[in-house]
Amino acid sequence: MNTKSVSELLNQDITLQKVTIKGWVRTFRANRFIALNDGSTINNIQCVVDFENFDEALLKRITTGAAIEVNGDLVESQGKGQKVEIVVSSLEVLGDSDPETYPIQPKKHSFEFLRENAHLRTRTNTFSAVMRLRSSLSFAIHKYFNENGFYYMHTPIITGSDAEGAGEMFRVTNLDAKNPPLTKEGKVNYKEDFFGKETNLTVSGQLEAETYAMSLGKVYTFGPTFRAENSNTSRHLSEFWMIEPEVAFMDLAGNMDLAEDFMKSVISYVLEHNREDLEFLDERLFNDEKTKPQAERSEMRLIEKLKFVTDNNFKRVSYTEAIDILRNSKPNKKKKFKYLINEWGADLQSEHERFLVEKHFKCPVILFDYPANIKAFYMRLNEDEKTVRAMDILFPGIGEIVGGSQREERLEVLKQKMAALDIPEEELWWYLDLRKYGTAVHSGFGLGFERLVMFATGMSNIRDVIPYPRTPQNAEF
Ligand code: 4AD
Repeated sequence: MNTKSVSELLNQDITLQKVTIKGWVRTFRANRFIALNDGSTINNIQCVVDFENFDEALLKRITTGAAIEVNGDLVESQGKGQKVEIVVSSLEVLGDSDPETYPIQPKKHSFEFLRENAHLRTRTNTFSAVMRLRSSLSFAIHKYFNENGFYYMHTPIITGSDAEGAGEMFRVTNLDAKNPPLTKEGKVNYKEDFFGKETNLTVSGQLEAETYAMSLGKVYTFGPTFRAENSNTSRHLSEFWMIEPEVAFMDLAGNMDLAEDFMKSVISYVLEHNREDLEFLDERLFNDEKTKPQAERSEMRLIEKLKFVTDNNFKRVSYTEAIDILRNSKPNKKKKFKYLINEWGADLQSEHERFLVEKHFKCPVILFDYPANIKAFYMRLNEDEKTVRAMDILFPGIGEIVGGSQREERLEVLKQKMAALDIPEEELWWYLDLRKYGTAVHSGFGLGFERLVMFATGMSNIRDVIPYPRTPQNAEF
C-alpha cells in the first residue's frame, strides 16, 4: 500500500496501482462518486464506489465533512475533468460528520457566514486556496531574504518602547486591574508591574532591527505586530504580521529598489508555484465581478494584475508632485473626495492613494519625501528641513502596502526630533547609542503581510486572509 496526498495522486501518470488515501468528503453523488479532499490541492480526487459491494449503513456515513480512509486502485478516469480516479476496494469512516448540523454545505456561502465558522472555512475551495497562498508567500519571503544575504532576526513582542509614536498600543501587565498599586500622585505604579516598567505589545520590530542592521549589515524581521487603533476597515487588523528588512549603508533610493525587487520576487514565486489556486481564485473573482455594476468592475483579472506588477516598473513620485496631481484632479475639483486636498502638508487618505494608483498612474506607485510632521520621528530629515526620506508603496485595490524610510543617522538631529515630540531619551538610550558608535546611513521598510496576501489572492477583506482575525470587539477562536 502506498499512502500519498491527493495532490501527488492527481499528478501521477502511472495508473493501476494500489493506493491508500485519507481526507474529508466534499460530496457523495449518486451513492457512487466521492469527491475527496485532503488540503494538499484545490482539486478533489474522485473515488468511485460500487455500492453493491458495500454495506448500506457504511455508505450512509459518507457525508459531507466526514473523514474517511479509502483503499483502491488508481486508474485512468472514465469521466471528464480528471486524469485519474480511485476505484474503491475498501473504505473506513475515520470521523463521522452530522449532515444536519455541519456548517460547510456543498454550496456557496457568504464570507460573513464563513468568518463566523473560521475554524471550518478552510474546508472550502476559496479559503483553502487563500491559506495555501498565504503559506507560499511566507516561504517566498524567507527565500528571498535568505538568497540575498539577509539574516532573520526575532524582535521582541513585548516592548517598553513605542516605535511608531502613535501611542495605540496594547498594555501588557499582570497588575490587579481592580486594585492596582498607585504612586503618591495616584497614578498606576508600573514599577511594581511584572517588568518593573510600562510594557506593551510591539507595533513594529524596526527599532530593534536597526540595532542588528548596524552590526550584521542586512537583517529582516517577520513577526506579529499589534495596534490598538479603532479602525474597523477592510484593510486593518489589530494583530497583523509584518516583514521589516533593515540594511546598513543603504539610502532611500536603494530602499525603493530593494522593496520593488522584493515585491516582484514574492509575487512571481506564487505565480509559478500556486498556479491552480490562483486560477481558481481568478475565475471565482471574475464571476463575482460580473454581478457588480460596470463602473465598479475591476479592469484586470487577478492573474493579469499580478503579472502586471511583476512586469512593470513601479512609478516613483514625490509627495509634492502627488499633491499637485491630487489638487488638480477631477474628484478634488468636483468635491468627490471625502477629504479635499487644498494644500501641501495634507496627510493622504486611502481615497487619494487609490486615485493615484488606480485612476491616474494605473500602476503601483512609490511616493517619497513626505512632510516631516506627518511621519515618524526616526525618518531622515531632508536638506529642505520640511520633508523626510520616507517612502510608501501604493498598490491597486489595496492602497498603502509598504511603509519605509531612510533613518535619521545624525545624533543631534534625532535628539531634537525626539525632544520636539516629547520622546524621553532615557527610553531609547540604546537607539541613540547607534548614532554615537559608528553611525551610518541605513534604511528599511515594513510590508503588511496580510495586505500582500489580499493583493495576491484578490480577497477584498483583510479578515479573510488571516486564519483568525483580531479586530475591535472581536477575538473569537
Ligand atoms: O507604515 P507602518 O506603520 O510602518 C512601520 O511600522 C515601520 N516601522 C516599518 C519600517 O519602516 N520598518 O506599517 C507598515 C505596513 C503598512 O504599510 C501596512 O501594509 C501594514 O504595515 N499595516 C497594517 N496592516 C494591517 N492592519 C493594520 N492595522 C496595519 N497597520 C499597518
